[in-house]
Amino acid sequence: MCGIVGITGHENVVTDLVEGLRRLEYRGYDSAGVAIVQTDSVRVIKQQGKINDLERVLPWDELHGSCGIAHTRWATHGKPSKLNAHPHSSGALAVVHNGIVENYTALKVRLEGKGHLFRSETDSEVLAHLILDQYDGNLETAVQRALKLVEGTYGIAVVHADEPDKIVGARRGSPLLVGVGDGANYLASDVAAIMGHTRQVIYLDDGEMVVLTPQDVTTMNVDNQEVTKEIQEITWDLERIQKGGYPHYMLKEIFEQPQTVLDSFRGRILPESGDVKLGGIQLTDRELLAIKRIIIIACGTSWHAGLVGEYLLEEYARIPVEVEYASEFRYRSPVIEPGTLCLTISQSGETLDTLEAMREAKRRGAKVIGITNVVGSTIARESDCGVYIHAGPEIGVASTKAFTSQVTILILLTLLFGRRRHLGIEIGKRTIEELQRIPDKIQQVLDQSAAIRAIAEVYAQHSNCLYLGRGVNFPIALEGALKLKEISYIHADGYPAAEMKHGPIALIDPNMPVVVISTRDSSYEKIRGNVQEVKARQGKIISVVTEGDTEIAAASDHVITIPETMNMLTPLLSVIPLQLLAYYTAVIRGENVDQPRNLAKAVTVE
Ligand code: AGP
Repeated sequence: MCGIVGITGHENVVTDLVEGLRRLEYRGYDSAGVAIVQTDSVRVIKQQGKINDLERVLPWDELHGSCGIAHTRWATHGKPSKLNAHPHSSGALAVVHNGIVENYTALKVRLEGKGHLFRSETDSEVLAHLILDQYDGNLETAVQRALKLVEGTYGIAVVHADEPDKIVGARRGSPLLVGVGDGANYLASDVAAIMGHTRQVIYLDDGEMVVLTPQDVTTMNVDNQEVTKEIQEITWDLERIQKGGYPHYMLKEIFEQPQTVLDSFRGRILPESGDVKLGGIQLTDRELLAIKRIIIIACGTSWHAGLVGEYLLEEYARIPVEVEYASEFRYRSPVIEPGTLCLTISQSGETLDTLEAMREAKRRGAKVIGITNVVGSTIARESDCGVYIHAGPEIGVASTKAFTSQVTILILLTLLFGRRRHLGIEIGKRTIEELQRIPDKIQQVLDQSAAIRAIAEVYAQHSNCLYLGRGVNFPIALEGALKLKEISYIHADGYPAAEMKHGPIALIDPNMPVVVISTRDSSYEKIRGNVQEVKARQGKIISVVTEGDTEIAAASDHVITIPETMNMLTPLLSVIPLQLLAYYTAVIRGENVDQPRNLAKAVTVE
């Protein structure tokens, strides 16, 4: 999704702006551009395509300036093109914008009436003209006046040639943070863009603005009242967002999972009492007991993690759970009764649908726990309390390690709620002992990557694939199908295995690969029957079975084994081969694994 970088105070900002954009590439984009403040003007260069394409057209010798802004665009209004790329300019002013200006048509008509000439099809361009229209020598005042007229969401960075070392930023509904440096200051939509320069950051909240010069950072609100903000220190390493020898971020992140799952539960388990301690959840035992119902809100892969959570929390903590697509929840009239707890799950912590659904739940009186990965993200800050999943930066657009870490946190929450209700100490202790073995067991699955690649070779050129699972493995079937379609563009569907006979069975023929997650648990006998149903119609069966299984293995065309574990923990193992299968399929097909077409890492638009 769109990314913003701004720098003021470097001798020449061009190279560093481009480098900042590179660090945002993982978010997904279709065009990019820079605006450099020069003597009497702001020079804007932009290009459709990737950062390399932009670099090719940059007139490096002519571009000099100590202050500038840059942007990666992911098209919403207007096709991906050079003209629609940001920055947008008007006179000696340039702006980059993340978000959507909802009343741009009305504003555009008004500004055109005043002689402003529009060049692009975007909603964002209206901001350049609008701010210039309000400009009388002070950029922050012009931005404040302009934003009062804007409906919609924004994270913006603005420069004007008359105030050559100043960048003004403002935020409503789209993330923006300030990097505080020494003799230089930075603005970005994502900390990755500026981490090479500083680790001291200020996260802006909605309604806030910032004025940056090389020496000063002034935070205020749109009503021009100064706001005091805390500077936070980023503790993780830049190395963690680099590829570390792997050909793709996605593969690196898949292979990190023994460590990231460990990081998610480390320091939070109490093996002696079969219990857990989650520092971010400031609820007393009495408050935990008062929870009568849980609503889980999320999108995409995080929603699949939520579905796993539903199985776990209902079965082991005996609390009724509903899992909602955030985009649906926010526009329904959801019933929130006293005792309703809302779990908001989001890797990025910035997904707009999830954020707005969370705000809606809060407005209706629900207590909200945010389960996020990105520290300081909007959902993390706006939830009543929260748990970080500690998976480290996830760069691949297709989420992998965040999923297993989200599931790990949901296992911990199940223990937290369960131990205060019906879950005995023995099962609590056994679960924690087994959880501690899971990182090694994930490694055992990863060790089969060559065999999984060989399976991918067989089916990589197929056009469809079906994923089946039961119980806690049904969400894993959904997640396996999502991974495949996201990065290989093969059509894939996930189903509860027994549901197959109500429709999808019509699709099964010798050309249909069917991935069946058939681990040894209470539904084993049933799923064995489903495997036979596929076999009878000559579908190709790829089974994920528990080590030692012979029956389903005998009926399958290909077998991947996972080590035996408790039912509650199975998803942490059964999802791994499906991630690898999707990854290798996409690689064999020659697709752009880390930046699949049309997708963005953080979906900050509706
Ligand atoms: C996952 O592979 C996807 N790219 C996508 O479904 C993602 O999980 C979804 O957009 C939610 O993102 P979030 O976890 O950052 O809120």
